[in-house]
Amino acid sequence: MLAVKKIRECFPIYKKHPRLVYLDSAATSLKPQPVLDKMNEYYGEYGVNIHRGVYELSFKATDEYDLAREKVARFINARTEEVVFTSNVTDALNKLALMYAKENIKAGDVVLTSELEHHSSLLPWMKICEEKKAGLRYIPLSEEGRITTENFKKALTDKVKVVALTYVSNVMGYRTPLEEIIPLAHENGSVVIVDAAQAVQHFRVDVKALDCDFLAFSGHKMLGPTGIGVLYGKKRHLKKLQPVFYGGDMNEDVYPDRVEIKEIPYCFEAGTPPIAEAIGLGRAIDFLEEIGLKNIEAHCRELYDYALAKLSGIEGFTLYNKNADIPIIALNIDGVHPHDAATCFEQDKVCIRSGHHCAQLVSRFLNCVGSLRASIYLYNDREDIDMFVGALVKTIELFRKLDGGQ
Ligand code: ALA
Repeated sequence: MLAVKKIRECFPIYKKHPRLVYLDSAATSLKPQPVLDKMNEYYGEYGVNIHRGVYELSFKATDEYDLAREKVARFINARTEEVVFTSNVTDALNKLALMYAKENIKAGDVVLTSELEHHSSLLPWMKICEEKKAGLRYIPLSEEGRITTENFKKALTDKVKVVALTYVSNVMGYRTPLEEIIPLAHENGSVVIVDAAQAVQHFRVDVKALDCDFLAFSGHKMLGPTGIGVLYGKKRHLKKLQPVFYGGDMNEDVYPDRVEIKEIPYCFEAGTPPIAEAIGLGRAIDFLEEIGLKNIEAHCRELYDYALAKLSGIEGFTLYNKNADIPIIALNIDGVHPHDAATCFEQDKVCIRSGHHCAQLVSRFLNCVGSLRASIYLYNDREDIDMFVGALVKTIELFRKLDGGQ
């Protein structure tokens, strides 16, 4: 187990809210002080624009921004020029879909995806397919709700040009077997786009080993600030894409009738980028590396197993994912709307998420209006799990009493 007490000292939110039981890290993680300090350092010491000024402060800001890109590249084993900063994963996946579809998708082509997708992975392609008269097809999920290699093979046809999949489901915590799927997709001539928003903070994602064509994630779920995301693309793919946004700092030369754009990745970063946020993300990566992704993974696994063992003795709820690969617990109290239940958890200061989690097709698959979701991260401990399970039992009992009219 990680030394949670010591780790929590780095997270100022626990000073302000000592009783906080934060189990909503899949929505956004808490932010450690070194990340806040690093962003303040930028604003307070060299808070000027990048790539523009020919003065020392601007060089310093530019260096820090570029260093953040290098850190991201190292973190996912990419080349620096393959890392594009965006404002979040939604921004990254939307921009990519627009850029890629422009030249590469035509009527009759197929985009293959899954019902486990977050809306940011699914909806850009749904709209593009509508507009281009292309087909949007779903890999049938297994009974348990997983994307399997076997079902992927069945859904793959020569019409499939794009495979857009989540690496880890934000509702079920299932890991997609991309290591098997990607080679099959490539043999078929399809490109693979990976939504890694729930993956990078939990286990080592190596884009070279994975051999994905594109991959995207947000900073704010991995201890970084909001407002920063990453789009990774293989160099040869990025070089062929045309930006969808034009403006300052993405062009080399502008003439009355044409523009010559900059090299990758700068051509995809029009306008003043989220400078402080990129620098903050770089510091968040240092923080994660200092603790070690393997240690985080083991810690979260132990807490998840502890939670499942505690839940196994309780009746009155449905657990949807008893074999999750990352520490997410999705459940519903029988007969109780998830929003009503979550409000009861709040009375014990237990923060969990309720609803369809921006992935409504998962609720449809599970045949529920939504669910309660508890997601565990490095600052959680057994006491948090005890509080969560305690709140669950209390809520089940409360609604039983209400149903019984007492
Ligand atoms: N996509 C985030 C979640 O899963 C917000 O909660």
